[in-house]
Amino acid sequence: MLQVIKTASAFRDWRNGAAGGKTLGFIPTMGGLHAAHLSLAQRSLAENDLTAVSIYLNRTQFNNPEDFEKYPADFQEDLAALEELGVQAVFAPTYEEMYPDDYRYRITESEISTVLEGEHRPGHFDGVMTVVMKLLCIADATRAYFGEKDWQQLQLVRGMVEAFFLPVEIVPCPTGRTESGLAMSSRNRRLSPQGLELAARFNQAMRAAETPQDATRELETLGFEVEYVADLEGRRLGAVVLEGVRLIDNMDLAETAAAVASKA
Ligand code: PAF
Repeated sequence: MLQVIKTASAFRDWRNGAAGGKTLGFIPTMGGLHAAHLSLAQRSLAENDLTAVSIYLNRTQFNNPEDFEKYPADFQEDLAALEELGVQAVFAPTYEEMYPDDYRYRITESEISTVLEGEHRPGHFDGVMTVVMKLLCIADATRAYFGEKDWQQLQLVRGMVEAFFLPVEIVPCPTGRTESGLAMSSRNRRLSPQGLELAARFNQAMRAAETPQDATRELETLGFEVEYVADLEGRRLGAVVLEGVRLIDNMDLAETAAAVASKA
C-alpha cells in the first residue's frame, strides 16, 4: 500500500522503521508524471527492496514565474499511477517543510552550472542542487534515479554527491522518448496537437545536423525559437521554445555523426 508522507521527520521515521535495513530506490520528481518517470520507478522497484518517489514542485529552480505557475501537475493522478506500479512511499512536502531556512542556505557550483541551461536560466541549478541535496539527506536512499534528458542536472548531481561524500549511488537512465523521438517531459502536456507534432522535429534536427549552427538554422526555419544548440564534451545539447513552452534535449555526438554519415 502506498504511503503518502508529508514531513521530513515522518519520512525519516518510515525509513528507520518499516523501511529499516532495506535497500531504497529514490526518484525525485516535480509531479506531472509521465511514462519516463514511471520507467525510473519500475527500474528502481526491480533493483531495490523499496521505492520512494518525491513529488515536489520546487519553486527555487524556476527563474520564470510563468513557467512555475503553468507547470502541469495532477497529484491524485500521479499517486494512482505510482500505487498501480507498487511504489511504497511518496514524499510530498510543502515549501515551508523543505525550506525552513527560506532558502538562505544553498548549494552552488561554479563551472558546469554557468553554461547553457545555467546561462539561460539564472539561479536554476542552485535551486536544483539545493533541493536535491535536501531530498537526498531526508531520503537516505541506496540509489537515486535521474533521467539523462536533464544532462547538465545529472552531471551536477553526480558531482555534488562526490564532492559532499553523500552515501548514495546516482543511477543515470536513458531519456524516455515518444515514437517520434520527442523527449518525454511534463511540459509537453502544454503543447497543442500541432505543436506536439512539430516538437518531434527538435530531436530530429539536432541529430541530423552536422554542426550546432546547422541545427539552429533548421530549427529556426521550422518555427522554433532557439535558445542554444551546442556541442560539449561529446554531447549535443539544445533548448528551444515552441508555443511558449520550453523544451530541452541532448544526445551523444556519436549518434549525430551516425545520422550525418547515413545521409551522405
Ligand atoms: O528533474 C526534475 O524533475 C527536478 O529538477 C528535480 C530533480 C526533481 C529537482 O526538483
